[in-house]
Amino acid sequence: MPSHGEERYILEGHEGELQRLADQHDVLTYASDNKLVFAPVDFSQPGLRILDSGCADGLWLRRLQASLGAQHEYIGTDINPKFFPKQAQPGITLQVQSITQDWPEDWTSTFDYVHQRSTLIGAGKVSTVEECIERLVKLVKPGGWIEFFESDLNQVRPNGPVMDQLMDVTKTLFDMLGVGYGYTARIRPALEKAGLIDIQEVTIDAVYGAGCDDPEIVGKGMTSMTSAGNAIYKAAKGESDSLKEFTEELHEELAARGGRLPCKVVWARKP
Ligand SMILES: C[S@@+](CC[C@H](N)C(=O)[O-])C[C@H]1O[C@@H](n2cnc3c(N)ncnc32)[C@H](O)[C@@H]1O
Repeated sequence: MPSHGEERYILEGHEGELQRLADQHDVLTYASDNKLVFAPVDFSQPGLRILDSGCADGLWLRRLQASLGAQHEYIGTDINPKFFPKQAQPGITLQVQSITQDWPEDWTSTFDYVHQRSTLIGAGKVSTVEECIERLVKLVKPGGWIEFFESDLNQVRPNGPVMDQLMDVTKTLFDMLGVGYGYTARIRPALEKAGLIDIQEVTIDAVYGAGCDDPEIVGKGMTSMTSAGNAIYKAAKGESDSLKEFTEELHEELAARGGRLPCKVVWARKP
């Protein structure tokens, strides 16, 4: 079992990863009817403490900050400080923290809203999804909200053969990483076990490439999913001869018929 010091983000060295995440952010936000938050948090009162765990370069925090009128305290954490922007962002603090480790003691019960997107797979072989969720729940104030947004590979969509192949390779990779591809179904039970209430969930289909009705999002969906497909295929199968061919075929399929990726959003309140 790797120790905390050996943990790293599987795509940290993937070329253009932050741009891929930025494009994917726009695809996911578009699929969410431009909502960044699903939980019914009252952001009109200033002074809320907001955490984004697995924040990468803090884009989601910057977008949320720009969308809200009232002033709040924004904190982002990630295992990989190389993603953090060199220039400080007013009102936003970024700090290294792994979801597999205990959080600072003085953060316990201090957050009005805790958000985490596409990061649970980072539990790896060091911790379990349930333990990572329990640690995050500890950070939420009584009455505060916690929210998870994850791809849901338990649900299948009628995609083309290359997207189907990508889903199979992704499942293999997620199994190899230790968490297992079915982890999204474990979020709700973990929140129930942690004693949270008002638990709600929705499934959103993110449309990558053709089939999305906004041309700018079509382009971002194609580049971000082609880049993800390339990185995932490489991580699962190594530098194989078939990588280039797979990446080109994926791009062609996304241009011709697009691809759908179901995502699950789950949110809950601390009593
Ligand atoms: C797929 S990216 C998602 C980034 C961002 N949340 C988004 O939705 O655009 C996953 C992020 O989780 C971070 N990460 C991976 N393992 C982690 C861990 N154990 N603890 C904290 N962050 C982790 C990665 O460095 C990366 O920034």
